[in-house]
Amino acid sequence: MSDPVPAMADRASVCAERVLAADSVVLASHIDADGLTSGAIAATALERAGIPFETTFEKQLDAAAIDRVAATDHEVALFTDFGSGQLDDILPHHRAGDFDAVVADHHQPVTGEEGEDPPEIDHHLNPLLFGIDGASELSGAGATYVLARAMESEGVDNRDLAALAVVGAVGDMQDTDGGLRGANEGIVAEGVDAGVIEEVTDISLYGRQTRPLPKLLEYASELRIPGISGDEEGAIKFLSELEIDLKVDGDWRRWVDLSFEERQTVASALMRHAISRGVPPDRVNGVTTTTYTLSAEEVGTELRDVSEFSTVLNATARYERADVGLAVCLGYRGEALDEARTLLRTHRRNLSEGLEWVKTEGVERAEHLQWFDAGTRIRETIVGIIAGMALGAEGVRRDQPILAFAQENEEELKVSARGSGFLVGEGLDLSVVMSEAAAAVGGGGGGHDVAAGATIPREKRDAFLDEADRIVGEQVG
Ligand code: C5P
Ligand code: C5P
Ligand code: C5P
Ligand code: ZN
Repeated sequence: MSDPVPAMADRASVCAERVLAADSVVLASHIDADGLTSGAIAATALERAGIPFETTFEKQLDAAAIDRVAATDHEVALFTDFGSGQLDDILPHHRAGDFDAVVADHHQPVTGEEGEDPPEIDHHLNPLLFGIDGASELSGAGATYVLARAMESEGVDNRDLAALAVVGAVGDMQDTDGGLRGANEGIVAEGVDAGVIEEVTDISLYGRQTRPLPKLLEYASELRIPGISGDEEGAIKFLSELEIDLKVDGDWRRWVDLSFEERQTVASALMRHAISRGVPPDRVNGVTTTTYTLSAEEVGTELRDVSEFSTVLNATARYERADVGLAVCLGYRGEALDEARTLLRTHRRNLSEGLEWVKTEGVERAEHLQWFDAGTRIRETIVGIIAGMALGAEGVRRDQPILAFAQENEEELKVSARGSGFLVGEGLDLSVVMSEAAAAVGGGGGGHDVAAGATIPREKRDAFLDEADRIVGEQVG
């Protein structure tokens, strides 16, 4: 048996032993694509190991959520895709014997009070503890996959779960540098060996499996190709001028319907078009990327492509239907998939309406950051996705982080912050910005350097902004 991530192998074994010795387990995970895939990986590994368990999903692992986990009657509580940032709230229950905590996560661990050691548990599996970047090299699903591999016994092979681990990593946007990197590559390699993943260089547009070609190009906001991106007529004109037949019975074909040669023809034409319109070389090269396809899924469906799969999952869990997303991850199709597709339509509409709203309203500027407050117009569970999409939009600076507010409830505001790899290189750490600025106004937050979030009292928005602006200034100034 090989170790997908050798640096984490010893800790993974210790964590696996603890889980395998449990009479029963309560499994708690996060409500996004990475959290659902983490939950599904852990659930499958537990099932295969014959350990009884129950599963629960939480929007945020705050003290109340941990109390709910503690109120269940299980020997071990396994937290996936969160937990590291909440060890201070987990420890009291752990010490009181409410549960034995095992955490498989990739978020920034909590720092202790000044002058004290940070809270820690023995069964803590997090890439950041082993010199691996939790924002770009391993996701929550990846950390859980490492645990699942360590839980294998005679006759059990969990390598097929690499497919879900890759969906989780891509759902957390860890493939933005032309493909998956670092520890994630070890997981991809195992999935390829196990025959569940295909790794191919292909066009880097969202919707290769399901979008008709004009929509694929029109919606390609990340590439920003003049005359095509955001331009329905332009996209159709570009495609119509190519010397290949891109329609069948009057209907546009999808990328997945094209032969290898046809794909090359379209991709080269797209690059030539981009160059002729003055798109800089690095963005022209960005037309292609390493893509990951799930071999077992039907061609032309949302589940075949890992990014589309991750959107399906966000469309369930972020709308209080984690049960549907989990079922899809566990391989249920039929009714579960129909339901997921219905939710997906709503999610897509919400994303596009939300982004339109931001573009129309524009963003406000502080000195070192830009922000918008969507109030109740954007659901707080998807405001982070929209903030990330807005960073590629016209009228939004790419050289400053963006903060997005949405109403969480009567008393609280949700904040989502998004940056870029470039800004992180300059010193930006949004996890620090969110946790410190939130703490300064009586809220809480955390996350990753490039993407983080917080919950704060509603009336503290402006004080929070001042504090966040000041910290960003210190980091990148
Ligand atoms: O809680 P979790 O770690 O799963 O959330 C990570 C969030 O960070 C996701 O919403 C993901 O889209 C975002 N992200 C990003 N850009 C990156 C890495 C992550 O927007 N480069
Ligand atoms: O929803 P999810 O976080 O998986 O979306 C990841 C990225 O996929 C978004 O940032 C966006 O660029 C793209 N996307 C899209 N159209 C959608 C959903 C997602 O272009 N309907
Ligand atoms: O919700 P959003 O996608 O903006 O979250 C971005 C990152 O910030 C996620 O990793 C999430 O777990 C983290 N976060 C947090 N505390 C909050 C809100 C978000 O640690 N109150
Ligand atoms: Zn995650």
